Amino acid sequence: MRAIIVTDEAAGTAGMRLAERPEPEAAINDVVVRIHASGFVPTELTWPSTWADRLGRDRTPTIPGHELAGVVTGLGYGTTGLSVGQRVFGLTDWTRDGTLAEYAAVEARNLAPLPGDVDFTVGAGLPISGLTAWQGLFQHGRLQPGQTVLAHGAAGAVGSMVTQLAREAGAYVVGTGRAPDRETALDFGAQEFVDLENDALEDVGSVDLAFDVIGGDIGRRSAALVRAGGTLVSVVGPVQTRPVRGLAIDFVVEADRAQLGEIVKRVRDGRLRTNIGTVASLDDAVAALNPSARARGKTIISIRP
Ligand SMILES: NC(=O)c1ccc[n+]([C@@H]2O[C@H](COP(=O)([O-])OP(=O)(O)OC[C@H]3O[C@@H](n4cnc5c(N)ncnc54)[C@H](OP(=O)(O)O)[C@@H]3O)[C@@H](O)[C@H]2O)c1
Repeated sequence: MRAIIVTDEAAGTAGMRLAERPEPEAAINDVVVRIHASGFVPTELTWPSTWADRLGRDRTPTIPGHELAGVVTGLGYGTTGLSVGQRVFGLTDWTRDGTLAEYAAVEARNLAPLPGDVDFTVGAGLPISGLTAWQGLFQHGRLQPGQTVLAHGAAGAVGSMVTQLAREAGAYVVGTGRAPDRETALDFGAQEFVDLENDALEDVGSVDLAFDVIGGDIGRRSAALVRAGGTLVSVVGPVQTRPVRGLAIDFVVEADRAQLGEIVKRVRDGRLRTNIGTVASLDDAVAALNPSARARGKTIISIRP
C-alpha cells in the first residue's frame, strides 16, 4: 500500500515522503480499516512514541497520523463490536503505524461508527481535537453551567472544539489567539476575544477553567487567572505554574468510543463543526503538511473519496 513515512526525527515534517509499505494485518481485537481520510497533528513528529515502541525500540520507518475515517475491511481474532463494511472513525495508538496510509490496523475499541451522513473528511478531523476538548472540559475540568472558560487558541483545532462544547454546556467563553483569529473564534461561539499579541490577558479577570494549548508564558499567566476551586487544564505538557488555590492537570487524549459518539451526534445535528482548512490527496500530502504560509484550519489528507 501507499503511505507517508518518516525516518529522521531531526527533519520534522520536511522529512516525510510517500513510500510503498506492506498492508497491515489485524492483531487480536483489531480491525483493518480502509482509510478514506486522515488527520495529522504536526507536533506528533516530536513525540517519543513516533520514533520508539513501548519498549523503547526504534520503530522507524514510521507512518504518522493518528486520526482516521474509513471502512472496516477485516477483523482480528476475537474482535467484536464492529463489522466488515462499517464506516468508522477514531484515534489510533500512538506507538503503532498510523493513518497517513491506504490501510491501518487499529484496536476496535479505539473506533466508533461514523454515520452515513457525516463526510469522511469531517470524521477524520474530529477524533483528536474533539476528544481532547471533551476530556479536558468535562472529565478533567468538571465544567459546570455558568462557569467561565478561557479557551486558548480558540480558532485552532482543539480550541475551536473547546469553545463550542463549553458554550453548549452553558459556560461563558473567552477565546484567545492572534489578531486574524478574532472573527473565527467569535464565530465558533466565544463571547469575548483576547489578541494575545496586543491585548492584556490579565484584563480577562478570573476564570473557572483555563484550557491551555499554548504553554510557556501564556500557561504561567493563565494559572494566575484561575479562581479558587478552578482548574488549569493543559494539553502541552506538565504545568509549570499551578493556580494558587485551584487545580492543575496535564493529560494526553485517550480513545473513547462513547465520547466519539457524543461528538459525532453534535456534528450531525449542527451543534459542533470542524475547522477544516486544506484537503489534499496522499500524492500532495507532503506539500500540504509543509505549508509555506500559515495554515488556516486543520489539514486533512483525503486518501480516497
Ligand atoms: N495532550 C494532548 O492530548 C493533545 C491533544 C491535541 C493537541 N495537543 C497539543 O495542543 C496544541 C494545539 O493543538 P491544535 O491542533 O489545536 O493546534 P492548532 O490548530 O495550530 O491551534 C493552536 C492555535 O493557537 C494559536 N496560538 C499558538 N500560539 C499562540 C500564541 N503565542 N499567541 C496567540 N495564538 C497562538 C495558533 O495560532 P498560530 O497557528 O498562528 O500559531 C492556533 O490558532 C499542540 O501543541 C498539540 O500538540 C495536545
